[in-house]
Amino acid sequence: MAAGHEPVIADSHVNSRASVLPRLEELSGTRIESHAFDLRDVDKTSALFADGHFDAVIHFAGLKAVGESSEMPLEYYDNNLGTTFAILRAMERHGVRTLVFSSSATVYGETERVPMPEELPTSSTNPYGWTKVMQEQILRDVAATGSVQVALLRYFNPVGAPPSGRIGEDPRGIPNNLMPFISRVAVGRRERLQVFGGDYPTPDGTALRDYIHVEDLAAGHVAALQYLSTHRDVQVREWNLGTGHGTSVLEMVAAFEAGSGQTVPYEIVGRRAGDLGAVYADATRAEAELGWRATRTIEDMCTDTWRWQEANPQGYPA
Ligand code: WQD
Repeated sequence: MAAGHEPVIADSHVNSRASVLPRLEELSGTRIESHAFDLRDVDKTSALFADGHFDAVIHFAGLKAVGESSEMPLEYYDNNLGTTFAILRAMERHGVRTLVFSSSATVYGETERVPMPEELPTSSTNPYGWTKVMQEQILRDVAATGSVQVALLRYFNPVGAPPSGRIGEDPRGIPNNLMPFISRVAVGRRERLQVFGGDYPTPDGTALRDYIHVEDLAAGHVAALQYLSTHRDVQVREWNLGTGHGTSVLEMVAAFEAGSGQTVPYEIVGRRAGDLGAVYADATRAEAELGWRATRTIEDMCTDTWRWQEANPQGYPA
């Protein structure tokens, strides 16, 4: 919106709360049209496009927990591919030709190569990652017909919240991801952090990840939309959205304690199955082609996360 776009939201709220919507309107100072339905529903999705006259779609609608995807693979394939099929059908029916897709560094699979460039082959070791690999392939093949133009944005580890603290990450149940777990320990909702592995070949033995502030991530989407609108000859292209730097689990814990003034008790336990020791982006392509790079620091990520969590200890109202 700050860039002049007029978004319409469609969300099943299977992993979000509708109580975020009034806060978005408070932050933007204007009404935001939103629709609550399952985006696998081709007719409802198409009806939205019939009324909307959209210029572009940003497709975030996906289940995203790696561990959970191994417990319920069918739900992950059905939801993540089904939403993409319905959105592509609706775009085709209503002549919408621009799509920005939320992909993931998970598509790089088990490679030990860091920093990770976009040229790496894609594969996965879990159903969630396979849904992203498959969606990228589906989108490449549909883009090759010339009917749509696609930006594939490969997120590394999104964290943080807008500085207002009025919206933020609020996963249901026990958080799978590091940052929401740390912030719940800091606010007293969880007793201590389990650090998964202290014997990686890294400076402090704990795993490195490329954490990127969600505000930088959002700016990357605006830059991708802009790029597609001024490069109509480009059918499909992938870009890493990361900082290019690796931060360890213990470095993140220390930064969060410094940023929040709270202690984060932890114990180092065994490695989590499937985790890699180091994952961080080669972020040079997005800077060269989109004119975008991440600017927020680890400290920003921690202080912004804490401002949200401290003001909303239980997350969003039900
Ligand atoms: C980060 C680091 C853990 C929790 C996943 C998905 C990826 C993307 C981002 C969707 C790792 C360690 C974590 C905890 C810990 N999601 N950790 N204790 O695994 O890098 O990536 O989320 O696109 O696809 O794979 O993120 O936040 O789970 O873990 O020590 O309680 O923190 O071992 O080193 P990950 P994460």
